[in-house]
Amino acid sequence: VRRSSVQELLQSQELEREVVVKGWVRTRRGNKYVQFIAVNDGSGFNSIQVVADAENFPEEKLKADGVENGAAVMVRGKLVASQGKGQSVEIQAAEITVYGKADTETYPLQKKGHSLEFLREIAHLRPRTNTFGAVLRIRHAMAFAVHQYFNDRGFYYVHTPIITGSDAEGAGQMFRVTTLPDQNPPLTEDKSGLDYKQDFFGKQTNLTVSGQLEGEIAAMALGKVYTFGPTFRAENSNTARHLAEFWMIEPEVAFNELPDNMDLAEDFLKYLVRYALENCQDDLKFLNEQYDKELLGRLQFVVDNDFQRLTYTEAVEILKGAKQKFEFPVEWGTDLQSEHERYLVEKHFKKPVILIDYPKDIKAFYMKLNDDDKTVRAMDVLFPGIGEIIGGSEREESLEKLTKRMAEMHVPEHELWWYLELRKYGTAPHAGFGLGFERLMLFVTGMGNIRDVIPFPRFPKSAEF
Ligand code: 4AD
Ligand code: MG
Repeated sequence: VRRSSVQELLQSQELEREVVVKGWVRTRRGNKYVQFIAVNDGSGFNSIQVVADAENFPEEKLKADGVENGAAVMVRGKLVASQGKGQSVEIQAAEITVYGKADTETYPLQKKGHSLEFLREIAHLRPRTNTFGAVLRIRHAMAFAVHQYFNDRGFYYVHTPIITGSDAEGAGQMFRVTTLPDQNPPLTEDKSGLDYKQDFFGKQTNLTVSGQLEGEIAAMALGKVYTFGPTFRAENSNTARHLAEFWMIEPEVAFNELPDNMDLAEDFLKYLVRYALENCQDDLKFLNEQYDKELLGRLQFVVDNDFQRLTYTEAVEILKGAKQKFEFPVEWGTDLQSEHERYLVEKHFKKPVILIDYPKDIKAFYMKLNDDDKTVRAMDVLFPGIGEIIGGSEREESLEKLTKRMAEMHVPEHELWWYLELRKYGTAPHAGFGLGFERLMLFVTGMGNIRDVIPFPRFPKSAEF
Protein backbone atom coordinates (compact mmCIF):
# COMPACT_ATOMS: atom_id res chain seq x y z
CA VAL A 1 0.00 0.00 0.00
CA ARG A 2 1.29 3.43 -0.96
CA ARG A 3 2.01 5.83 1.92
CA SER A 4 -0.55 8.61 2.28
CA SER A 5 -0.09 11.98 3.92
CA VAL A 6 -2.26 12.71 6.93
CA GLN A 7 -3.93 15.61 5.07
CA GLU A 8 -4.85 13.38 2.13
CA LEU A 9 -6.53 10.93 4.47
CA LEU A 10 -8.39 13.57 6.48
CA GLN A 11 -9.92 14.86 3.25
CA SER A 12 -10.52 11.45 1.71
CA GLN A 13 -14.01 10.22 0.86
CA GLU A 14 -12.75 6.71 0.10
CA LEU A 15 -13.30 4.78 3.30
CA GLU A 16 -12.98 1.13 4.31
CA ARG A 17 -9.60 0.72 2.61
CA GLU A 18 -6.15 -0.13 3.84
CA VAL A 19 -3.82 2.84 4.32
CA VAL A 20 -0.30 3.53 5.55
CA VAL A 21 0.85 6.75 7.24
CA LYS A 22 4.20 7.72 8.69
CA GLY A 23 4.68 10.52 11.15
CA TRP A 24 5.26 11.45 14.78
CA VAL A 25 3.07 10.66 17.77
CA ARG A 26 1.54 13.81 19.20
CA THR A 27 -0.43 12.21 22.01
CA ARG A 28 -1.46 8.81 23.23
CA ARG A 29 -4.41 8.44 25.55
CA GLY A 30 -7.17 5.93 26.29
CA ASN A 31 -8.14 3.19 28.69
CA LYS A 32 -7.74 -0.54 29.07
CA TYR A 33 -10.06 -1.29 26.13
CA VAL A 34 -8.82 1.12 23.54
CA GLN A 35 -5.96 3.55 22.92
CA PHE A 36 -6.07 6.67 20.74
CA ILE A 37 -2.85 7.82 19.13
CA ALA A 38 -2.70 11.16 17.34
CA VAL A 39 -0.20 11.05 14.46
CA ASN A 40 1.04 14.16 12.69
CA ASP A 41 3.34 14.17 9.66
CA GLY A 42 3.55 17.93 9.11
CA SER A 43 1.37 17.84 5.97
CA GLY A 44 -1.11 20.06 7.75
CA PHE A 45 -2.19 21.31 11.12
CA ASN A 46 -4.46 18.40 12.02
CA SER A 47 -3.32 14.99 13.21
CA ILE A 48 -5.06 11.77 12.33
CA GLN A 49 -6.49 9.63 15.10
CA VAL A 50 -5.27 6.05 15.20
CA VAL A 51 -7.48 3.67 17.16
CA ALA A 52 -5.67 0.71 18.71
CA ASP A 53 -7.85 -1.89 20.41
CA ALA A 54 -6.54 -3.54 23.55
CA GLU A 55 -6.79 -7.03 22.14
CA ASN A 56 -4.10 -6.41 19.55
CA PHE A 57 -2.39 -3.46 21.22
CA PRO A 58 -2.48 -3.67 24.99
CA GLU A 59 -1.30 -0.43 26.58
CA GLU A 60 1.67 -2.24 28.15
CA LYS A 61 2.87 -3.32 24.72
CA LEU A 62 2.48 0.16 23.23
CA LYS A 63 4.51 1.54 26.13
CA ALA A 64 7.20 -1.11 25.78
CA ASP A 65 7.43 -0.44 22.02
CA GLY A 66 7.78 3.28 22.68
CA VAL A 67 4.52 4.50 21.12
CA GLU A 68 4.76 7.75 23.04
CA ASN A 69 4.71 11.45 22.44
CA GLY A 70 7.50 12.34 19.99
CA ALA A 71 8.21 8.87 18.59
CA ALA A 72 8.44 8.35 14.81
CA VAL A 73 5.99 5.67 13.68
CA MET A 74 4.49 3.80 10.76
CA VAL A 75 0.82 2.90 11.04
CA ARG A 76 -0.98 0.46 8.75
CA GLY A 77 -4.70 0.00 9.11
CA LYS A 78 -8.18 0.60 7.82
CA LEU A 79 -9.48 4.11 7.13
CA VAL A 80 -12.97 4.37 8.63
CA ALA A 81 -15.53 7.02 9.51
CA SER A 82 -14.91 8.36 12.99
CA GLN A 83 -17.48 8.29 15.77
CA GLY A 84 -15.58 10.83 17.83
CA LYS A 85 -16.08 14.55 17.41
CA GLY A 86 -13.37 16.73 15.90
CA GLN A 87 -12.50 14.49 12.97
CA SER A 88 -14.40 12.76 10.19
CA VAL A 89 -12.08 9.79 9.68
CA GLU A 90 -9.69 7.69 11.72
CA ILE A 91 -7.46 4.65 11.25
CA GLN A 92 -8.18 1.29 12.87
CA ALA A 93 -4.65 0.07 13.48
CA ALA A 94 -3.50 -3.29 12.18
CA GLU A 95 0.23 -2.62 12.59
CA ILE A 96 2.23 0.03 14.43
CA THR A 97 5.99 0.14 13.95
CA VAL A 98 8.25 2.54 15.83
CA TYR A 99 11.19 3.90 13.84
CA GLY A 100 12.65 5.95 16.66
CA LYS A 101 11.58 6.33 20.28
CA ALA A 102 11.55 9.59 22.21
CA ASP A 103 12.38 8.96 25.87
CA THR A 104 9.39 10.23 27.86
CA GLU A 105 11.69 11.23 30.74
CA THR A 106 13.97 13.51 28.75
CA TYR A 107 12.03 14.58 25.62
CA PRO A 108 11.74 18.36 26.04
CA LEU A 109 8.32 18.69 24.39
CA GLN A 110 5.85 17.49 26.95
CA LYS A 111 2.08 17.52 26.61
CA LYS A 112 1.76 20.71 28.60
CA GLY A 113 2.19 23.96 26.68
CA HIS A 114 5.63 25.53 26.61
CA SER A 115 6.52 29.22 26.63
CA LEU A 116 7.75 30.73 23.37
CA GLU A 117 10.93 31.78 25.20
CA PHE A 118 11.65 28.18 26.17
CA LEU A 119 10.95 26.98 22.63
CA ARG A 120 13.45 29.52 21.27
CA GLU A 121 16.13 27.67 23.22
CA ILE A 122 15.28 24.42 21.44
CA ALA A 123 15.04 25.69 17.89
CA HIS A 124 15.84 22.19 16.63
CA LEU A 125 12.68 20.75 18.19
CA ARG A 126 10.22 23.63 18.09
CA PRO A 127 9.06 22.91 14.50
CA ARG A 128 7.33 19.86 16.03
CA THR A 129 4.96 22.01 18.07
CA ASN A 130 1.53 23.09 16.86
CA THR A 131 2.56 26.73 16.91
CA PHE A 132 5.72 26.41 14.85
CA GLY A 133 4.21 23.90 12.48
CA ALA A 134 1.55 26.52 11.77
CA VAL A 135 4.07 29.36 11.45
CA LEU A 136 6.33 27.39 9.11
CA ARG A 137 3.50 26.32 6.83
CA ILE A 138 2.22 29.90 6.65
CA ARG A 139 5.76 31.11 5.94
CA HIS A 140 5.97 28.71 3.03
CA ALA A 141 2.57 29.81 1.73
CA MET A 142 3.56 33.48 1.90
CA ALA A 143 6.83 32.88 0.03
CA PHE A 144 4.94 30.97 -2.64
CA ALA A 145 2.31 33.72 -2.89
CA VAL A 146 5.05 36.33 -3.38
CA HIS A 147 6.34 34.51 -6.45
CA GLN A 148 2.83 33.82 -7.71
CA TYR A 149 1.84 37.48 -7.43
CA PHE A 150 4.80 38.77 -9.38
CA ASN A 151 4.87 35.99 -11.94
CA ASP A 152 1.18 36.56 -12.75
CA ARG A 153 1.92 40.24 -13.36
CA GLY A 154 4.95 39.86 -15.63
CA PHE A 155 7.70 40.61 -13.11
CA TYR A 156 11.03 38.77 -13.33
CA TYR A 157 12.74 37.34 -10.26
CA VAL A 158 16.38 38.45 -10.13
CA HIS A 159 19.02 37.07 -7.81
CA THR A 160 21.11 39.82 -6.31
CA PRO A 161 24.42 39.20 -4.55
CA ILE A 162 24.83 38.46 -0.86
CA ILE A 163 28.49 39.53 -0.81
CA THR A 164 28.77 43.10 -1.98
CA GLY A 165 31.23 45.99 -2.10
CA SER A 166 28.66 48.73 -1.52
CA ASP A 167 26.38 49.91 1.27
CA ALA A 168 22.96 50.10 -0.39
CA GLU A 169 21.35 52.10 2.39
CA GLY A 170 24.37 54.24 3.19
CA ALA A 171 23.68 53.63 6.86
CA GLY A 172 26.86 51.75 7.75
CA GLN A 173 25.06 48.84 9.39
CA MET A 174 27.02 46.13 7.67
CA PHE A 175 28.72 42.86 8.55
CA ARG A 176 32.14 42.59 6.94
CA VAL A 177 33.10 39.51 4.98
CA THR A 178 36.58 38.20 5.63
CA THR A 179 38.61 35.14 4.77
CA LEU A 180 40.50 33.11 7.34
CA PRO A 181 44.19 34.10 7.62
CA ASP A 182 45.59 30.82 6.35
CA GLN A 183 43.39 31.02 3.25
CA ASN A 184 44.64 34.42 2.41
CA PRO A 185 47.73 35.53 4.36
CA PRO A 186 47.66 39.16 5.50
CA LEU A 187 49.23 41.48 2.98
CA THR A 188 49.89 44.22 5.49
CA GLU A 189 49.96 44.30 9.25
CA ASP A 190 47.82 47.03 10.69
CA LYS A 191 47.66 47.95 14.34
CA SER A 192 43.91 47.54 14.63
CA GLY A 193 44.39 43.90 13.71
CA LEU A 194 42.01 44.36 10.80
CA ASP A 195 43.47 43.93 7.39
CA TYR A 196 41.19 45.48 4.84
CA LYS A 197 43.16 44.15 1.88
CA GLN A 198 42.68 40.60 2.99
CA ASP A 199 38.89 40.79 3.09
CA PHE A 200 37.65 39.45 -0.21
CA PHE A 201 40.75 38.48 -2.15
CA GLY A 202 41.97 42.02 -1.88
CA LYS A 203 38.70 43.92 -1.73
CA GLN A 204 36.68 45.05 1.26
CA THR A 205 33.21 43.53 1.14
CA ASN A 206 30.10 43.19 3.28
CA LEU A 207 26.95 41.14 3.55
CA THR A 208 24.21 42.94 1.67
CA VAL A 209 21.71 45.15 3.52
CA SER A 210 19.42 45.27 0.49
CA GLY A 211 19.27 44.02 -3.09
CA GLN A 212 17.77 47.28 -4.29
CA LEU A 213 20.71 48.80 -6.15
CA GLU A 214 21.27 45.63 -8.16
CA GLY A 215 17.49 45.38 -8.57
CA GLU A 216 17.61 48.80 -10.23
CA ILE A 217 20.19 47.47 -12.69
CA ALA A 218 17.77 44.72 -13.68
CA ALA A 219 14.73 47.03 -13.81
CA MET A 220 16.57 49.26 -16.26
CA ALA A 221 16.67 46.32 -18.66
CA LEU A 222 13.77 43.98 -17.82
CA GLY A 223 11.27 46.64 -16.77
CA LYS A 224 9.51 44.92 -13.88
CA VAL A 225 11.62 42.87 -11.48
CA TYR A 226 11.78 41.76 -7.88
CA THR A 227 14.32 40.25 -5.54
CA PHE A 228 13.57 37.95 -2.61
CA GLY A 229 16.56 37.03 -0.53
CA PRO A 230 18.33 37.22 2.80
CA THR A 231 19.59 40.62 3.95
CA PHE A 232 21.76 41.52 6.92
CA ARG A 233 21.83 44.45 9.32
CA ALA A 234 24.46 44.85 11.99
CA GLU A 235 22.14 46.64 14.32
CA ASN A 236 22.72 45.67 17.89
CA SER A 237 19.08 46.08 18.79
CA ASN A 238 17.23 43.60 20.91
CA THR A 239 13.69 44.35 19.82
CA ALA A 240 10.74 42.20 18.88
CA ARG A 241 10.80 43.67 15.34
CA HIS A 242 14.48 43.49 14.35
CA LEU A 243 16.70 40.66 13.23
CA ALA A 244 20.35 40.72 12.14
CA GLU A 245 19.41 38.40 9.24
CA PHE A 246 16.02 38.78 7.63
CA TRP A 247 14.41 38.17 4.25
CA MET A 248 13.31 41.02 2.06
CA ILE A 249 11.15 41.24 -1.06
CA GLU A 250 12.10 44.18 -3.27
CA PRO A 251 10.14 44.96 -6.43
CA GLU A 252 11.60 47.61 -8.73
CA VAL A 253 9.68 48.97 -11.71
CA ALA A 254 10.94 51.15 -14.55
CA PHE A 255 8.67 54.12 -15.37
CA ASN A 256 6.75 53.80 -12.08
CA GLU A 257 6.39 56.96 -10.03
CA LEU A 258 5.45 57.33 -6.39
CA PRO A 259 1.65 56.91 -6.80
CA ASP A 260 2.23 53.72 -8.83
CA ASN A 261 4.57 52.52 -6.10
CA MET A 262 1.87 53.08 -3.47
CA ASP A 263 -0.72 51.25 -5.58
CA LEU A 264 1.64 48.31 -6.04
CA ALA A 265 2.47 48.12 -2.32
CA GLU A 266 -1.18 48.20 -1.27
CA ASP A 267 -2.32 45.68 -3.87
CA PHE A 268 0.59 43.35 -3.06
CA LEU A 269 -0.02 43.38 0.69
CA LYS A 270 -3.75 42.78 0.26
CA TYR A 271 -3.03 39.91 -2.10
CA LEU A 272 -0.69 38.25 0.40
CA VAL A 273 -3.10 38.60 3.31
CA ARG A 274 -6.02 37.34 1.22
CA TYR A 275 -3.87 34.41 0.08
CA ALA A 276 -3.22 33.47 3.71
CA LEU A 277 -6.91 33.72 4.60
CA GLU A 278 -7.82 31.46 1.71
CA ASN A 279 -5.00 28.93 1.89
CA CYS A 280 -3.92 28.68 5.53
CA GLN A 281 -7.27 28.25 7.24
CA ASP A 282 -6.44 25.48 9.71
CA ASP A 283 -3.20 27.09 10.83
CA LEU A 284 -4.71 30.58 11.14
CA LYS A 285 -7.72 29.25 13.02
CA PHE A 286 -5.37 27.67 15.55
CA LEU A 287 -3.28 30.83 16.00
CA ASN A 288 -6.46 32.89 16.31
CA GLU A 289 -7.77 30.64 19.08
CA GLN A 290 -4.49 30.09 20.85
CA TYR A 291 -2.92 33.56 20.91
CA ASP A 292 -5.00 36.34 19.47
CA LYS A 293 -8.77 36.21 19.08
CA GLU A 294 -8.74 39.28 16.82
CA LEU A 295 -6.25 37.92 14.30
CA LEU A 296 -8.68 36.77 11.61
CA GLY A 297 -10.77 39.93 11.93
CA ARG A 298 -7.67 42.10 11.57
CA LEU A 299 -6.54 40.24 8.45
CA GLN A 300 -9.95 40.55 6.84
CA PHE A 301 -10.05 44.27 7.69
CA VAL A 302 -6.79 44.91 5.83
CA VAL A 303 -8.08 43.12 2.76
CA ASP A 304 -11.36 45.05 2.75
CA ASN A 305 -10.25 48.63 3.43
CA ASP A 306 -8.25 51.24 1.59
CA PHE A 307 -4.99 52.31 3.20
CA GLN A 308 -4.79 55.92 4.39
CA ARG A 309 -2.29 57.97 2.35
CA LEU A 310 -0.74 61.19 3.64
CA THR A 311 2.51 63.12 3.75
CA TYR A 312 5.06 63.08 6.55
CA THR A 313 4.33 66.78 7.14
CA GLU A 314 0.60 66.09 7.60
CA ALA A 315 1.43 63.22 9.94
CA VAL A 316 3.66 65.46 12.07
CA GLU A 317 0.77 67.94 12.43
CA ILE A 318 -1.54 65.15 13.60
CA LEU A 319 1.05 63.88 16.08
CA LYS A 320 1.67 67.34 17.48
CA GLY A 321 -2.04 67.75 18.08
CA ALA A 322 -2.39 64.31 19.72
CA LYS A 323 -3.58 64.12 23.31
CA GLN A 324 -1.31 61.14 23.93
CA LYS A 325 2.06 61.84 25.58
CA PHE A 326 4.96 60.38 23.58
CA GLU A 327 8.28 59.27 24.98
CA PHE A 328 10.04 60.95 22.03
CA PRO A 329 8.82 64.44 21.09
CA VAL A 330 7.79 65.02 17.48
CA GLU A 331 9.44 67.79 15.48
CA TRP A 332 9.42 68.23 11.72
CA GLY A 333 12.68 66.76 10.51
CA THR A 334 13.06 63.96 13.04
CA ASP A 335 12.46 60.33 12.23
CA LEU A 336 9.17 58.88 13.45
CA GLN A 337 9.51 56.39 16.29
CA SER A 338 7.47 53.25 16.42
CA GLU A 339 5.20 54.83 19.09
CA HIS A 340 4.32 57.59 16.58
CA GLU A 341 3.72 55.16 13.74
CA ARG A 342 1.49 53.03 15.89
CA TYR A 343 -0.47 56.03 17.13
CA LEU A 344 -1.30 57.01 13.54
CA VAL A 345 -2.31 53.48 12.56
CA GLU A 346 -3.95 52.16 15.70
CA LYS A 347 -5.43 55.26 17.35
CA HIS A 348 -5.88 57.97 14.74
CA PHE A 349 -6.79 56.37 11.41
CA LYS A 350 -7.44 52.83 12.68
CA LYS A 351 -6.24 51.39 9.38
CA PRO A 352 -2.96 50.84 7.49
CA VAL A 353 -1.21 54.08 6.57
CA ILE A 354 1.12 55.03 3.72
CA LEU A 355 3.34 57.99 4.58
CA ILE A 356 5.20 59.82 1.81
CA ASP A 357 7.46 62.82 1.23
CA TYR A 358 9.82 62.52 4.20
CA PRO A 359 12.55 65.06 4.99
CA LYS A 360 15.57 64.26 2.82
CA ASP A 361 18.01 64.18 5.73
CA ILE A 362 16.42 61.17 7.43
CA LYS A 363 16.20 59.08 4.26
CA ALA A 364 18.65 57.29 1.95
CA PHE A 365 20.74 59.05 -0.71
CA TYR A 366 18.99 57.41 -3.67
CA MET A 367 15.49 58.83 -3.07
CA LYS A 368 14.14 61.34 -5.58
CA LEU A 369 14.22 64.92 -4.41
CA ASN A 370 10.93 66.87 -4.46
CA ASP A 371 10.71 70.35 -5.96
CA ASP A 372 10.66 71.86 -2.45
CA ASP A 373 14.32 70.72 -2.13
CA LYS A 374 13.53 69.59 1.43
CA THR A 375 11.62 66.34 1.06
CA VAL A 376 12.10 63.16 -0.93
CA ARG A 377 9.66 60.84 -2.66
CA ALA A 378 9.88 58.25 0.11
CA MET A 379 7.12 55.88 1.08
CA ASP A 380 6.67 53.89 4.28
CA VAL A 381 3.72 51.56 4.82
CA LEU A 382 2.68 51.29 8.47
CA PHE A 383 0.64 48.39 9.81
CA PRO A 384 -1.26 47.82 13.05
CA GLY A 385 0.81 46.06 15.70
CA ILE A 386 3.92 46.27 13.51
CA GLY A 387 4.74 49.84 12.55
CA GLU A 388 6.85 49.96 9.38
CA ILE A 389 6.24 46.90 7.21
CA ILE A 390 7.43 48.43 3.91
CA GLY A 391 10.01 51.10 3.08
CA GLY A 392 10.47 52.39 -0.44
CA SER A 393 10.65 55.36 -2.78
CA GLU A 394 10.80 56.75 -6.23
CA ARG A 395 14.50 56.82 -7.16
CA GLU A 396 16.55 59.85 -8.16
CA GLU A 397 17.03 59.45 -11.90
CA SER A 398 18.98 62.65 -12.52
CA LEU A 399 22.75 62.11 -12.54
CA GLU A 400 23.38 65.66 -11.42
CA LYS A 401 20.99 65.59 -8.46
CA LEU A 402 22.11 62.13 -7.41
CA THR A 403 25.82 63.00 -7.32
CA LYS A 404 24.98 66.14 -5.36
CA ARG A 405 23.01 64.14 -2.78
CA MET A 406 25.77 61.54 -2.51
CA ALA A 407 28.35 64.23 -1.85
CA GLU A 408 26.15 65.84 0.81
CA MET A 409 25.64 62.47 2.50
CA HIS A 410 29.27 61.33 2.16
CA VAL A 411 28.46 58.34 -0.03
CA PRO A 412 31.66 57.60 -1.99
CA GLU A 413 31.10 57.94 -5.75
CA HIS A 414 33.88 55.53 -6.65
CA GLU A 415 32.06 52.68 -4.90
CA LEU A 416 28.90 53.31 -6.90
CA TRP A 417 30.27 54.27 -10.31
CA TRP A 418 28.09 51.60 -11.90
CA TYR A 419 24.98 52.92 -10.15
CA LEU A 420 25.73 56.36 -11.52
CA GLU A 421 26.12 54.96 -15.05
CA LEU A 422 22.49 53.83 -14.89
CA ARG A 423 21.70 57.57 -14.78
CA LYS A 424 24.22 58.37 -17.48
CA TYR A 425 22.85 55.95 -20.05
CA GLY A 426 19.13 55.76 -20.72
CA THR A 427 17.95 56.94 -17.33
CA ALA A 428 14.21 56.91 -16.59
CA PRO A 429 11.84 57.36 -13.67
CA HIS A 430 11.60 54.22 -11.56
CA ALA A 431 10.42 53.20 -8.13
CA GLY A 432 10.38 50.26 -5.76
CA PHE A 433 10.14 49.17 -2.18
CA GLY A 434 11.24 46.56 0.32
CA LEU A 435 8.81 44.38 2.26
CA GLY A 436 10.35 42.81 5.35
CA PHE A 437 9.23 39.19 5.05
CA GLU A 438 9.32 38.57 8.80
CA ARG A 439 7.34 41.77 9.49
CA LEU A 440 4.72 40.41 7.08
CA MET A 441 4.84 37.10 8.96
CA LEU A 442 4.35 38.91 12.27
CA PHE A 443 1.22 40.52 10.91
CA VAL A 444 -0.22 37.41 9.28
CA THR A 445 0.43 35.04 12.18
CA GLY A 446 -0.27 37.53 14.97
CA MET A 447 2.91 36.38 16.75
CA GLY A 448 4.42 39.04 19.01
CA ASN A 449 8.12 38.46 18.49
CA ILE A 450 10.01 38.39 15.19
CA ARG A 451 12.23 35.60 16.56
CA ASP A 452 9.20 33.32 16.43
CA VAL A 453 8.42 33.69 12.72
CA ILE A 454 11.77 32.59 11.24
CA PRO A 455 13.15 29.09 11.79
CA PHE A 456 16.61 30.17 12.92
CA PRO A 457 16.56 33.76 14.16
CA ARG A 458 19.83 35.69 14.14
CA PHE A 459 20.08 38.37 16.80
CA PRO A 460 22.87 39.47 19.14
CA LYS A 461 24.37 36.38 20.84
CA SER A 462 22.29 33.84 18.93
CA ALA A 463 24.08 31.57 16.57
CA GLU A 464 23.73 28.06 17.88
CA PHE A 465 23.10 26.61 14.41
O1 4AD B 1 13.28 50.53 5.05
P1 4AD B 1 14.39 49.62 4.62
O2 4AD B 1 15.71 49.77 5.27
O3 4AD B 1 14.48 49.82 3.04
C1 4AD B 1 15.40 49.26 2.21
O4 4AD B 1 16.22 48.46 2.52
C2 4AD B 1 15.19 49.66 0.77
N1 4AD B 1 16.43 49.37 0.04
C3 4AD B 1 14.01 48.92 0.20
C4 4AD B 1 13.73 49.29 -1.22
O5 4AD B 1 13.30 50.39 -1.47
N2 4AD B 1 13.97 48.40 -2.16
O6 4AD B 1 13.92 48.13 4.80
C5 4AD B 1 12.76 47.65 4.16
C6 4AD B 1 11.93 46.81 5.10
C7 4AD B 1 11.42 47.55 6.32
O7 4AD B 1 10.25 48.28 6.02
C8 4AD B 1 11.15 46.41 7.27
O8 4AD B 1 9.92 45.77 6.97
C9 4AD B 1 12.27 45.45 6.95
O9 4AD B 1 12.71 45.75 5.64
N3 4AD B 1 13.40 45.55 7.87
C10 4AD B 1 13.69 44.66 8.84
N4 4AD B 1 13.08 43.52 9.21
C11 4AD B 1 13.61 42.82 10.22
N5 4AD B 1 14.73 43.17 10.88
C12 4AD B 1 15.39 44.30 10.55
N6 4AD B 1 16.53 44.63 11.19
C13 4AD B 1 14.88 45.10 9.48
N7 4AD B 1 15.26 46.25 8.88
C14 4AD B 1 14.36 46.51 7.91
MG1 MG C 1 12.80 51.97 6.45
